Amino acid sequence: EKGGFGSFMDKEIHDQPHAVADTLLGRTDAAGHLVLDELRIDEAVLRAVDKIVVVACGTAAYAGHVAKYAIEHWCRIPVEVELAHEFRYRDPVVDERTLVVAISQSGETMDTLMAVRHAREQGATTLAIVNTHGSTIPRESDAVLYTHAGPEIAVASTKAFLSQITAAYLLGLFLAQLRGNKFPDEIASTLEELRAMPDKIQEVLDRSGRVREIARWMADTQSVLFLGRHVGYPIALEGALKLKELAYIHAEGFAAGELKHGPIALIEPGQPVFVVVPSPRGRHSLHSKVVSNIQEIRARGARTIVIAEDGDEAVRPYADEVFSVPQCPTLLAPLLTVVPLQVFACELATAKGLDVDQPRNLAKSVTVE
Ligand code: BG6
Repeated sequence: EKGGFGSFMDKEIHDQPHAVADTLLGRTDAAGHLVLDELRIDEAVLRAVDKIVVVACGTAAYAGHVAKYAIEHWCRIPVEVELAHEFRYRDPVVDERTLVVAISQSGETMDTLMAVRHAREQGATTLAIVNTHGSTIPRESDAVLYTHAGPEIAVASTKAFLSQITAAYLLGLFLAQLRGNKFPDEIASTLEELRAMPDKIQEVLDRSGRVREIARWMADTQSVLFLGRHVGYPIALEGALKLKELAYIHAEGFAAGELKHGPIALIEPGQPVFVVVPSPRGRHSLHSKVVSNIQEIRARGARTIVIAEDGDEAVRPYADEVFSVPQCPTLLAPLLTVVPLQVFACELATAKGLDVDQPRNLAKSVTVE
């Protein structure tokens, strides 16, 4: 049932093109408009939403963090991302015009469920982005948007993460369509670009041999840092989480812009640092800023492992390794850049002889607070 892979996690990493394609499937009408019939929330309520709060834990929270960049850009609605267990204990500002989006693979995470209950008590509309049909969180929410990743067995989340980003993006585009933030042809072309992502994810998987080699060489590493900026920031956090969960290695993710405000003090000769580089074709100047960060840490002896877009030659002089991913719009890049980080953690943990599907002390769904 592992389909010839050494672990469920490895299999699920390879399932990702399908997971994303299936999450996109059947969500447009003949005219190409997004139809999310399953939402069953009054359109007037969705039009009146003036704030979105995403509540989730672990990897699901990082999916929310990625989606914040896209939803704010497309819909001009402020989006907060809150760890579910922090949410209800800080007297959050939530009312009838707040849409609370709970993201959960299992639909059973108690912390997330309690956040949903609290949000409803405050009069908010609650929407669940969940992978497991019939689970508790969608039952207790006003609406559900299912991810179609298929069953995820490995404790560490991979294909559910990509599907959560995809579903949250569909929600963002749907709100933009409903509220008239974007022209129909802009929405159609973004959907077209999303539909092109499964083939690109497959391409990243096809190129992952070198990531595996590096991971095996690094099996004795004690500490790994991850840097990213914009949507690459939550991906850096996710890369670090994967390594902690699976390989029991100290790993930390940082926003690259924060480097000079502290983390650069950690850089000493030989320190491995993964850097998720924004596209040089992006509208903002973030690419050159992140390339400068790579230069700065390389000058202090860091071993730089860079994830960059195809054709990005500017990173090469400062990178010990470059993993290239196909070109795509900036907001969609997380669906590609996270994949080498997942493969790296899975392969390194396997090389250490660890059980990647059942890491110590962790459970697939945590049903206690
Ligand atoms: C953790 C799992 O306990 O719960 C993570 O180990 C997961 O992999 C997190 O991301 C949240 O779980 P869920 O089911 O709510 O997405």
